[in-house]
Amino acid sequence: MADALTPETVEPLLRGRLGRPYLYRDSCESTQLLAEPSLGEGAVAVCDEQTAGRGRLGRGWSAPAGTAVLCSVLLRPPPERVVAELSLVGGVAVAEAVENATNLSAQIKWPNDVLVNRRKVAGVLAEADGDAVVLGVGLNVNQSREQLPADSKVAAGSLLTTDGVRRERAPILADLLLRLEDVYDRWRESGLDAVYEGLGARDFLRGRRVFVDGETGLGIAVDRRGRLEVEIDGERRLVESGEVLFER
Ligand code: BTN
Repeated sequence: MADALTPETVEPLLRGRLGRPYLYRDSCESTQLLAEPSLGEGAVAVCDEQTAGRGRLGRGWSAPAGTAVLCSVLLRPPPERVVAELSLVGGVAVAEAVENATNLSAQIKWPNDVLVNRRKVAGVLAEADGDAVVLGVGLNVNQSREQLPADSKVAAGSLLTTDGVRRERAPILADLLLRLEDVYDRWRESGLDAVYEGLGARDFLRGRRVFVDGETGLGIAVDRRGRLEVEIDGERRLVESGEVLFER
């Protein structure tokens, strides 16, 4: 199976504004660093392998060369929008792209994980730099079980380990960028309300036993401002950031 994310393979598949320019390296430290804020909105950096991939909360992100979609999109949201919501916006687009590729339903685990069958197949990282935001997506496509990190907080999966199908990454990336453009444009125009339907329907933590800051509670829902509502000892609390784990 021919499988490359080079410009010759991906550019003919691009249908929207995102991916122009399309910056590709076989290997780089992190695509988050390639998508420089001096570039215009819509620039996308992609590589086959990262030597220092970044995850949320100072963690790393790793994937063997040629197995994953690793991309960073440069965005310039209007000042009235809440940048933290972009992880969820990205999550909706990634979940849609995963569903399109697999015909399985994907869930969003607040605030930035995309899960299929309770395993994390993708993560989203939004990093602000001035008025620009670099939105990074790591989507596990063709890793075997042995190639996935064994130590992640949420058990990792790939599309391959989910359904046994090995896929070309270029069409998945092109589809993801088109979906991201659509979800981002709606959010840009009207905020999280505009994408809430896609989020609420895929809210993984709703109704689950969750662990927040050393306490156990019940996940209620991601609210319309992107916060996670949990119930702990009969009291409702809103979690704005951080990490929430769940009972498997
Ligand atoms: C997370 O779940 O912690 C977020 C992971 C985000 C990983 C992607 S891979 C492409 C881009 N470049 C990086 O260094 N990180 C993001």
